[in-house]
Amino acid sequence: TEALKIALAGLGTVGGGVVRLLDTNADLIARRAGRPIEIVAVSARDRAKDRGVDLSRFRWIDDMGEMAALDGVDVVVELIGGSDGPALTLARRTIAAGKALVTANKAMIAHHGLELASAAEAGNVAFKYEAAVAGGIPVIKGLREGAAANRIQQVYGILNGTCNYILSTMEAEGRDFADVLAEAQALGYAEADPGFDIDGVDAAHKLSILASLAFGTRIDFPGVGTTGIRHVLAADIAEAAALGFRIRLLGHAEMRADGLFQRIHPHLVPVSHPLAHVTGSLNAVVAEGNFVGRLLFQGRGAGDGPTASAVVADLIDIARGEYGPAFAMPVAALGEQPPADPGAR
Ligand code: NAP
Ligand code: HSE
Repeated sequence: TEALKIALAGLGTVGGGVVRLLDTNADLIARRAGRPIEIVAVSARDRAKDRGVDLSRFRWIDDMGEMAALDGVDVVVELIGGSDGPALTLARRTIAAGKALVTANKAMIAHHGLELASAAEAGNVAFKYEAAVAGGIPVIKGLREGAAANRIQQVYGILNGTCNYILSTMEAEGRDFADVLAEAQALGYAEADPGFDIDGVDAAHKLSILASLAFGTRIDFPGVGTTGIRHVLAADIAEAAALGFRIRLLGHAEMRADGLFQRIHPHLVPVSHPLAHVTGSLNAVVAEGNFVGRLLFQGRGAGDGPTASAVVADLIDIARGEYGPAFAMPVAALGEQPPADPGAR
């Protein structure tokens, strides 16, 4: 059978993880996908950097326009990052060239996801982004496919691994914010600019995507009220603990009678609540549907292995020919406001 041929842009934490996963589990992946999945071309800024994987077997491409339109390539995987710049150029040109796009880039989706999805629908190509929200947790598939038949009342949870690692490590070990942030960066959890993590922007990107999937509305990133954890002190954590609470950065989106509520901010979570026990780089997402009831998705929300797992899951879907609209429904059918729900508060 003909292999699914991949061009991979970005060979950092996630890109390196994708190369290792496709190598390590090649046989299993080929059996499940129905055909082998093979990287044929790669790109990054620095050709000379040692990435701990053998890249000599791949074509090296510097130009994003060329990367988007390589002969014989079926899917371009964008793992560069950034809402605009080379990532967006690559994404637009890939779809324009009639090739499938897989990305982990929630910043780009929060800002340009609807445009990219419209173009993908017009060209009948796959556009998939499981890795963009909550790392290895299949929450995009969970909402878009698993809970598709439900009216979802609210979705909330812990959406940033770096912040959760910082808060839970400060809490458990009494360590300093800056010291634990540096550790999260070394572990590959943080964004290239960690301000996106600690100021809540990364979680806001993710919440805007989850809200769109949950409520069938257009992505509204500017509508997310955002407060981060930059100002949380060790003393705040200790005081919360003395009162029986843990501090967690939560995202919450809810369909209300007056419109869509979307908010990221630090919460006091009672120790008796399951979210208080989500520690380290774990993420957790709760969604409440009118037939399925309460769903809880939990797992590792950042890092090379979990994120690569989600990227390769998308590649397997594409190899199987399984894809549909990128969001809850075709872009033209997504609502500006939540549809009227007599049960909404
Ligand atoms: P990273 O480690 O900083 O890797 C970024 C890669 O992009 C590097 O290989 C870099 O090249 C390459 N790059 C940068 N500018 C480029 C350009 N102009 N042309 C070609 N390549 C370029 O980032 P990451 O953590 O892997 O994240 C990648 C994406 O995944 C981001 O969108 C991020 O938000 C998302 N994500 C990350 C995680 C995570 O846990 N890390 C989880 C979910 C989603 P050099 O290596 O040569 O510098
Ligand atoms: N910087 C992100 C986080 C990576 O810490 O959650 C996963 O999206």
